[in-house]
Amino acid sequence: MAEDLKIIHGTKAEQYLSLLPQLNGLLEGETDFIANMANTCAALKEQFGWLWVGFYLVKGNELVLGPFQGPVACTRIQKGRGVCGTSWQQEKTILVEDVHTFPGHIACSSLSCSEIVIPLLYQGHCIGVFDIDSEKRCDFDATDQHYLEQIVACLLKSYTISYATE
Ligand code: SME
Repeated sequence: MAEDLKIIHGTKAEQYLSLLPQLNGLLEGETDFIANMANTCAALKEQFGWLWVGFYLVKGNELVLGPFQGPVACTRIQKGRGVCGTSWQQEKTILVEDVHTFPGHIACSSLSCSEIVIPLLYQGHCIGVFDIDSEKRCDFDATDQHYLEQIVACLLKSYTISYATE
């Protein structure tokens, strides 16, 4: 199977609508959760060119860095700390138009200006977060939230297969 993505120009919604079936095809052809997290990061980074796209997974009482694309990042985040720890604590997607105004924001890169964090909710529990950072202010909105939550739901099917029965 060719693994090349078709990358398009267009509105944000057009870009998601082009990427989604391709990404769903990739994710549904593979049962391993780590492999699927890795390809999700790569596909989104390639289409949108964001600064950082990656996962943190809940391990005990902290988040630990998982698969990502972008500059090196902090490896551990406490519950309730930063945008990621807040999304984990509140079990809600958090959109930050300007990270400099978010109390307690953890600046892994000084280039980051806006951020979206989606919790990975499996059977009512948060098992991690999906974090995306942009160099542009106000780069994320309800359109991103809508499509990224769909991508996370598709990804979590392989969490069920890889881990939930262990
Ligand atoms: N900015 C995040 C930390 C993770 S990095 O952006 C990759 C936060 O405030 O939780």
